[in-house]
Amino acid sequence: MSETIDAKNLTKIYRRGREEIYALNDVDIRVSNGEFVSIIGPYGSGKTALLNVLGCLDTPTRGSLRLNGIETSGLKEKDLVRLRRDNIGFVFQQFYLIPTLTARENIELPLLFSRKNGNRSRIDEILELVDLGNRSEHLPRQLSGGEMQRVAIGRALINDPKIILADEPTGNLDSGTSKKIFDLFRELNNHGLTLVVVTHNLELARQAHKMYTLRDGQIVRCEDLACVLGRNDLKVQLEVV
Ligand SMILES: Nc1ncnc2c1ncn2[C@@H]1O[C@H](COP(=O)(O)OP(=O)(O)OP(=O)(O)O)[C@@H](O)[C@H]1O
Ligand SMILES: [Mg+2]
Repeated sequence: MSETIDAKNLTKIYRRGREEIYALNDVDIRVSNGEFVSIIGPYGSGKTALLNVLGCLDTPTRGSLRLNGIETSGLKEKDLVRLRRDNIGFVFQQFYLIPTLTARENIELPLLFSRKNGNRSRIDEILELVDLGNRSEHLPRQLSGGEMQRVAIGRALINDPKIILADEPTGNLDSGTSKKIFDLFRELNNHGLTLVVVTHNLELARQAHKMYTLRDGQIVRCEDLACVLGRNDLKVQLEVV
């Protein structure tokens, strides 16, 4: 399988006065095309820092990142923006919806900033996919938390990304709603989308093909869960990196 994400020796150092904070410390991570990966770890372990670097929202202090075979270090800002826009959809814990726009308009919004106007025809398809066909004209305040997150997922899908990066997408949702959001992620994954999802919910994290554990900016464990899901006959491997 080809690597959608191939990151080596990723290090992210934040400076606070004289103090250096290693948010990421020599992280190697590879995500294959069509894979569903979850990332868990304690507060402050570097999960958001990792997603931000993988999604080119932030640049690493050191290390290399290839996205769909393209080396990102050294790319100019405008090329990085294009690479991000064409390949990656983001989902966050706070849904970041525009309160005065309907569900449909929120999902359409990224099209304003892309050249993929043809995708306007996809909006109804996406509304169905995220199960909001009958909520499309509602404003965010007229929607439940789970529905708002579905709008945010729809918005992440409108540019036909190859990868979705989600940072605690169920952090504001109750357990039943969280489960349904993960069901949607699995469905999207079955459609071929590559997913990297950060979560504090171990039960949900274990629905992925692979689960990475971060601690103090380092990957301390990678569990292969594919056989648990019955997707192939690999044995569960516990690999301490
Ligand atoms: N802009 C910043 N400046 C300085 N330090 C930062 C900055 N952003 C993050 N950090 C530090 O980097 C480390 C990793 O932070 P990060 O937000 O990635 O953790 P996290 O695993 O996402 O935590 P949480 O579970 O609370 O979301 C922490 O020690 C944090 O304090
Ligand atoms: Mg975080």
